[in-house]
Amino acid sequence: MNPYKEILNLINEQEEWRSNCLNMIASENLTSLAVRRAISSDFGHRYAEGLLGGKIDDLQVFDRFYQGTKIFDKVEAIAMKFSEKLFQAEHANLVPVSGAVANLVTYHALAEYGDKISGLSIPCGGHISHSRVSVAGVIGLREISYPFDNEEMNIDVDKAKELLLREKPKIMIFGGSLFLFPHPLNELREIANEINAVMMYDGAHVLGLIAGGKFQKPFAEGADILTSSTHKTFPGPQGGVVFCKEKFKEKIDNAAFPGLMSNHHLHHVVGFAVALAEMMEFGREYAEQIVKNSRVLAETLYELGFDVLCEHKGFTQSHQIAVDVSRIGGGRKIVESFEDANIIINKNLLPWDSLEKTGNPSGIRIGTQEVTRIGMKESEMKEIAEFMKRIAIDGEKPEKVKEDVIAMKKGFNKVHYCFDD
Ligand SMILES: Cc1ncc(COP(=O)(O)O)c(C=O)c1O
Repeated sequence: MNPYKEILNLINEQEEWRSNCLNMIASENLTSLAVRRAISSDFGHRYAEGLLGGKIDDLQVFDRFYQGTKIFDKVEAIAMKFSEKLFQAEHANLVPVSGAVANLVTYHALAEYGDKISGLSIPCGGHISHSRVSVAGVIGLREISYPFDNEEMNIDVDKAKELLLREKPKIMIFGGSLFLFPHPLNELREIANEINAVMMYDGAHVLGLIAGGKFQKPFAEGADILTSSTHKTFPGPQGGVVFCKEKFKEKIDNAAFPGLMSNHHLHHVVGFAVALAEMMEFGREYAEQIVKNSRVLAETLYELGFDVLCEHKGFTQSHQIAVDVSRIGGGRKIVESFEDANIIINKNLLPWDSLEKTGNPSGIRIGTQEVTRIGMKESEMKEIAEFMKRIAIDGEKPEKVKEDVIAMKKGFNKVHYCFDD
């Protein structure tokens, strides 16, 4: 077949398939038509090396290296202004092209070769970009892991204090990829002051919840820096951002440009600006529904016999649910059989797993942000839990459940919480 046609066919195939799926990977989302318009616009063909100069309210002063950016400059300034408002940030840098790059920008700005950073270990929910196997390793940082309370699924504050006083990391990282409950920023701020560490909050997973006022407020609770992806609970195009206190502005901006990037992806910034406008209008309602949906899904799964983590804490305060499936075949088998039924989730290490179990960990992680965005509510969460039970506990053939998944999904293909009407 003509390769051009083959690729177009594959695009169609992907869209057809995933529109018939329950997409519940916790790091994904759908963008509105308006965001898609932005990312396919002319901005995606252009360069705007350099940073916005001057004050955001004073649009005349720009420090660009190329001509042709006068319209983009206005969009970027609006996006910065909205970001500052929505996240109570004193400054926004929209240059990073992904969440991992946003973390690298922060490390490059504020740490030096050989410095220590503290964060969660990967089985406890830390992201690879918090460790030397990924971007932290690029500049030779050494990670130390917070002691973790497996019952509470959170950092053990008292033990963490001892560790931090002893090890004195340069950057204390909070946030993670398996992230059920807010992290103890307030409780550890004093220690950060004492050891002169910067508090960085990686909000990649929960940015949409923060925007909707439904998770923690990183800056109000003591964070100096908030890094994030723009496309997990926050429903923007794929990209990254660093928000910071004014005193870190110059270092962060220089680390982003010219430090690590030449051009930033303009279409991503423009799409992000549209998503910010959506979140300012609909964010609260959207975030509230996500958390309600997570809790109902978790509760129903639990009642149906799944080992959902943290029953004593109401299971979750975020878009995520963690389930220990070691009793019923392990993570790999469960996610593969769910995929055969068009239910897309990921297998996940749990705190008691070693890294060697990455291929078949004890857990699965389920995210409710995307199904919420297409209008699903509590009753649909109960239906989804039933689908999962039929496969994982009753042993029904996934192909049979798939028919019911497709039938259910038919009523839910419109993106909500946006201006698309
Ligand atoms: C906590 C956390 N930080 C950073 C990242 C990296 O984000 P990106 O994929 O946008 O580079 C992820 C990705 O899932 C994440 O979970």
